[in-house]
Amino acid sequence: MHYGEDVKQAVAAAQQALGPLDAGAVGLVAGTGLGGVAALMEGTRELATAQLPGFPRSTAPSHAGRLVCGTVGGRPVAFLAGRQHLYEGYSPREVAFGVRFLAGLGVRTLVLTNAAGALDPHFAGGGLMRITDHINLTGRNPLVGANDDALGPRFPDMSRAYCPRLGAIADAAALACGLRLERGVYAGVLGPSLETPAETRMLRLLGADAVGMSTVTEVIAARHLGMSVLAVSCLTNVNLPDCMAETTIEAVLETARRAEADLARLLAAVIPAC
Ligand code: HPA
Repeated sequence: MHYGEDVKQAVAAAQQALGPLDAGAVGLVAGTGLGGVAALMEGTRELATAQLPGFPRSTAPSHAGRLVCGTVGGRPVAFLAGRQHLYEGYSPREVAFGVRFLAGLGVRTLVLTNAAGALDPHFAGGGLMRITDHINLTGRNPLVGANDDALGPRFPDMSRAYCPRLGAIADAAALACGLRLERGVYAGVLGPSLETPAETRMLRLLGADAVGMSTVTEVIAARHLGMSVLAVSCLTNVNLPDCMAETTIEAVLETARRAEADLARLLAAVIPAC
């Protein structure tokens, strides 16, 4: 496969620093306040992604910018702690860099976590939601521009962007762990301002169950490459248009931290099975 020259250089540098990734590795990308899942990993080797040529720097709060390779339940994992967001001013191509980098390392199965605001009034703050589908409202797409046919098709299918098989594994794992795992549609917005009550009402009318500022760009790039995707949102706040509560980044991070243990338990059960 031909990757962009910049991605290839970053992959070569990571392989040189950490050695080749074991076959069948799962790629894991965690966002806001969810970097603690690294504690699950054994036999870790890691580096700062800032060391890798061409790798976009992470500027968001609580996004460390590390690549950690190791195992979870015996399954090889390449974990990117920290991601790039469009709201930081990164291009869609830069936001997709991490996913393409993981693909270059040999990852074919991708697990993404994020923080999101719940829109379904039945969802509780601090809960977890498996993303079954998304609505890309960022107005951006990482596949705009010339298509590299060696990477993937010009018009990739998105009818099953989130792998039903991995979804079923996550549902079974949640049940086995005694964890509630909601399912729903994630609306990806540009941010960084949070939604007004009118926007929140609109998102709900559009069919979204949660809203966040990441993931959709990465999923599009991953599906273009033919990777299988599982994505889980940590519902850090609940947005109800008729009684909108104020949301602060501090509260979002605090809730994400509290949900971290549940997310870690879920991932510990899911990763070896996927
Ligand atoms: N809106 C958008 N992104 C978010 C939210 C929200 O309410 N909570 C966490 N990320």
